Amino acid sequence: MKVLCFGSLNIDYTYRVDHFVGKGETLLSQELRTFSGGKGLNQSIALARAGMETCHAGAIGEDGLFLLQELREAGVDTSCVDVRKDVRTGHAIIQNSRDGDNCILLYGGANQSITTAQADAVLSRFRAGDVLVLQNEINELPYIMTEAHHRGMKIVLNPSPMNEKIFALPLETVDYLLVNEVEAGQILGREVDKGEDGLAVAAALHERFPAAAVLLTLGERGSCYDDGTRTARQCAVRVRAVDTTAAGDTYTGFFLAGILGGGSVSEAMELAARASAIAVTRRGAAPSIPTRAEVLAWEGK
Ligand code: RIB
Repeated sequence: MKVLCFGSLNIDYTYRVDHFVGKGETLLSQELRTFSGGKGLNQSIALARAGMETCHAGAIGEDGLFLLQELREAGVDTSCVDVRKDVRTGHAIIQNSRDGDNCILLYGGANQSITTAQADAVLSRFRAGDVLVLQNEINELPYIMTEAHHRGMKIVLNPSPMNEKIFALPLETVDYLLVNEVEAGQILGREVDKGEDGLAVAAALHERFPAAAVLLTLGERGSCYDDGTRTARQCAVRVRAVDTTAAGDTYTGFFLAGILGGGSVSEAMELAARASAIAVTRRGAAPSIPTRAEVLAWEGK
């Protein structure tokens, strides 16, 4: 079984700020740092650092070659990433506030230049039983999902960032749906209340997509799982957050590596919760993602 993550690669420009800039406001930031990022790249790196053999597919411009280096150093196969001459690498402008929160402005760049020909060439290297991991930062997702499903690949969808394009996807082909509470609310067409039981929300999502196992992350309220036959609940691990960027991506990569590697759902959820807790204590996206050895050696609870 091989894992293919077909997704974005971004240059993250992260600005440290006292508070998020408001409408009409001009704000002096305290620091600017540049990191490797993109939900796709982050999830590939998390999968690889969790011990899963992973291939990344996507596109960058010539200004983003260092992103390939970061993927390779984590052990990710980058032979399915195209380097384009005529377009810039995607980037993100990230404000990172004092309490560790962030807000993100995206520029799609090369992430929006995926062609069906590239998708065909990439998918031809995979077969039934292999796993495809997707987010919502590249174009041609409906085509990629449909073709991968025809090949018998298992499809993991993290519909992030959530927008109307998600509803145009062949969602019935999804085997694993990984969402946070905001995305869950948008999919269910109602607000998910903070006091609501996460397992009830996961059950409602599973009812909506009966073929999919649902993993719902709830921030400091932990995470819940429902695949129709099993349910599981995991508490969040308490840490002092300095930067929450890529915490969700870290959770996704470690959770998938846990279950695809043969562990139980509960073990995978605990591993993922610990990995993402470590990630929020470090600055940046990809560089904040720990290795499996670091997660296992970590003493946090
Ligand atoms: O999930 C975090 C990521 O979202 C960042 O690395 C940024 O590039 C955006 O894609």
